Amino acid sequence: MPESTPTSDYGTLRPPTRVLMGPGPSDTPPRVLAALGLPTVGHLDPAYLELMNQTAEMLRRLFRTQNRLTMPMSGTGSAGMEAAFVNVLEPGDRALVAINGVFGTRMKDIVERCGCECVTVDVEWGQPVPPDAIQKALSQGPFKVVAVVHAETSTGARSDVEAIGRVVKELGAGALFIVDVVTSLGGIPVEVDAWGIDVCYSGTQKCLSCPPGLSPVTFSDRAAEIIATRKTKVQSWYLDLSMIQQYWGEERTYHHTAPINMTYGLNEALRLVFEEGLENRWERHRRLSEKLRQGLAEIGLSLLGDPEYSLPMLNAIVVPNGVDEADVRKRLLNEYNIEIGAGLGPLKGKIWRIGLMGHTAREQNVVYLVAALREMLRR
Ligand SMILES: Cc1ncc(COP(=O)(O)O)c(C=O)c1O
Repeated sequence: MPESTPTSDYGTLRPPTRVLMGPGPSDTPPRVLAALGLPTVGHLDPAYLELMNQTAEMLRRLFRTQNRLTMPMSGTGSAGMEAAFVNVLEPGDRALVAINGVFGTRMKDIVERCGCECVTVDVEWGQPVPPDAIQKALSQGPFKVVAVVHAETSTGARSDVEAIGRVVKELGAGALFIVDVVTSLGGIPVEVDAWGIDVCYSGTQKCLSCPPGLSPVTFSDRAAEIIATRKTKVQSWYLDLSMIQQYWGEERTYHHTAPINMTYGLNEALRLVFEEGLENRWERHRRLSEKLRQGLAEIGLSLLGDPEYSLPMLNAIVVPNGVDEADVRKRLLNEYNIEIGAGLGPLKGKIWRIGLMGHTAREQNVVYLVAALREMLRR
């Protein structure tokens, strides 16, 4: 008999209670935490099948789309990103990808792993993607897809997806428009149908305030048709929507065991969104970000980039000369239990990324963080 280890040897499972003001995850509201702890049922239980339908319906409302092919993929936002590309691309296809931060570079990586050619529109990090740069690059077409990140979490820049969508529709010669809304969904307007988006994906842990683990996706009928008429198998077995849609559709054919309790969490998080009202939620993010920026300006801290294109849920704040940015983050965590994020890539050491996403976007958190930073910078 192997010797068993008393669980007391591992201490108690007690994660600290933080205020999550980084680039995600955001704070989870008590109702979502409680939903995650509800009794697990089977993935083909009629009660669960009903919950799947309801969740997909709420996701359609959230994405503002009529797309039949709308569901949460199992996995974090990266699963949605990968699913968006692997399902519509086949080896030899060409893609146009805009890169203005970390997540555009990942799109390119996925395109190339699919055996496709990737043409990029390279934009200075911190800036939005200019619609006319996409317009110019389309002359190098044809492209099977055009992809942009709506809210670049690595820099805080918001690109004008509505305007880019118009360009793609007009000059894209039928290219599918793929948009990453991981950080924007639920915090600023996202209009899948009105903006002509064909493939859109998000994550649960940002403005929806459900822990990481699911990635809501939606595919237009045109994109669904492209999946249905592929000549080659989807490069990823796990993310193959031609199989997964049979589980989310009428057939209910088993593909992989759904993360049941995560669906409870997302379902409850979506209820919270619609109880508040989507427009009210956008307004809350806007108002609190403005309050945060005012408070930070009063202690001498300023925003990176053009405020018109800055995200309310991800505030990129310039680190003042002579301040050790890592030390400030460490002390905020250790002394105040506040998490904020560091800059990435070319912005490493130059900015802090302050998230106000979903349940985190509350007055008390803004006041607390500004007071903590004031105290720290004074010292
Ligand atoms: C814009 C964007 N896209 C994709 C991702 C990847 O999501 P995840 O880390 O949940 O896999 C993130 C995560 O921060 C993101 O901000």
